[in-house]
Amino acid sequence: MVSRARSRSVSSGRGSARRRTDAKPLRLLIVAGARPNFMKVAPLLRAFRARPDRFEARLVHTGQHYDEQMSDVFFQDLEIPLPDIHLGVGSGSHAAQTARIMEAFERVAASERPDWVVVVGDVNSTLACSVVAAKMSPPVRVAHVEAGLRSGDRTMPEEVNRIVTDALSDLLFTTSPDADRNLAAEGVAKRKVHRVGNVMIDTLRRFLARADSSDVMARLGIAPPFGLLTLHRPSNVDDSQALRRIVAALEAISRDIPILFPVHPRTLKMIESLGVDMPVGAGASGLRLVDPLGYLDFLHLQKRARLILTDSGGIQEEASILGVPCLTLRENTERPITVTRGTNRLVGSDTAKIVAAARRILRAPAPRTRPIPLWDGKAAARIAAVFARLG
Ligand code: UD1
Repeated sequence: MVSRARSRSVSSGRGSARRRTDAKPLRLLIVAGARPNFMKVAPLLRAFRARPDRFEARLVHTGQHYDEQMSDVFFQDLEIPLPDIHLGVGSGSHAAQTARIMEAFERVAASERPDWVVVVGDVNSTLACSVVAAKMSPPVRVAHVEAGLRSGDRTMPEEVNRIVTDALSDLLFTTSPDADRNLAAEGVAKRKVHRVGNVMIDTLRRFLARADSSDVMARLGIAPPFGLLTLHRPSNVDDSQALRRIVAALEAISRDIPILFPVHPRTLKMIESLGVDMPVGAGASGLRLVDPLGYLDFLHLQKRARLILTDSGGIQEEASILGVPCLTLRENTERPITVTRGTNRLVGSDTAKIVAAARRILRAPAPRTRPIPLWDGKAAARIAAVFARLG
């Protein structure tokens, strides 16, 4: 889908010509919209802004996530500078939200005329801004950080976002060899693909020591051992049957170990509207629902959890690096390296399967993990180096 002309522009396009003639810094518009984006743009902004002679990096927040606990707290915890531009789009159906981001971002791209739009991850903001950039006249080149991940499941909105974004991208930064293979199989030219590691893990490594001093356990009145749960995928929470199967499993597991559940707003809405009865226990056992947590508090809890249950993508990666057993409540993962080298195991939404896997973990010592190449805290620096070479 990426035309020859656009492919060639990676090495000989507007940006490089500009640097040769007037040596101006590359103008980058970095896009963040939803919670999992914030830990990815933080190290990128730091790496680009450390080299003001080479880069002029501006941050655009689409406003896809807008609650204090879904957005602002991450800016504070991760010391992300305030966005230069805020689109304030808010929630909506996929089409409505994507369309609002596109309309607003088109105006920004037209007035800013960046050399590159840099998008991360797989949320609707990622897709919307890539499409806008690619259709500007002349096109603005797109760089996708965390490219090439594929679950093979196109009913997942994020999978559609990944496929389209990668097809439109001129630079694709990957975290793992499986992503490189996926892109090769889709015909993406090898020269556009750079395996750089994982920017989310850059953030984890940078902030782990600070997270250690969080007082979240005292504030919530919990102590190890405990399990940690997150749940927000439409396939789990918008489907009342799947949600009830998972809740039944939680009910059983929480008899053996207390489970802390910071609840995503989407999930809370569904629990309330479907009238699902959550087994909220008293005292030291049971399932404990709390508001969404900030980055440092959540990382503190992840590191100390005996077991993590999740349907998030990023948490599979974080748990693997922390060496904490992770059960992923999905049938597939776009991050297979967390299964082959990390602590992750896919259990879907089948009650018996989830309970059996959790009990096995609770009986066994913590699993051995193998290091994941390049998940070393230096991915953003490698990305900046690739851009620096373009000039
Ligand atoms: C989005 C991403 C998903 C990511 C997740 C992390 C897409 C398609 N999905 O899903 O990949 O894993 O973020 O959280 O982009 N809401 C609030 N406050 C907020 C944000 C959302 O109350 O700050 C509520 C709204 O009712 C909204 C719902 O949550 O309708 C869902 O938000 P939305 O951004 O559409 O998708 P997420 O489920 O958060």
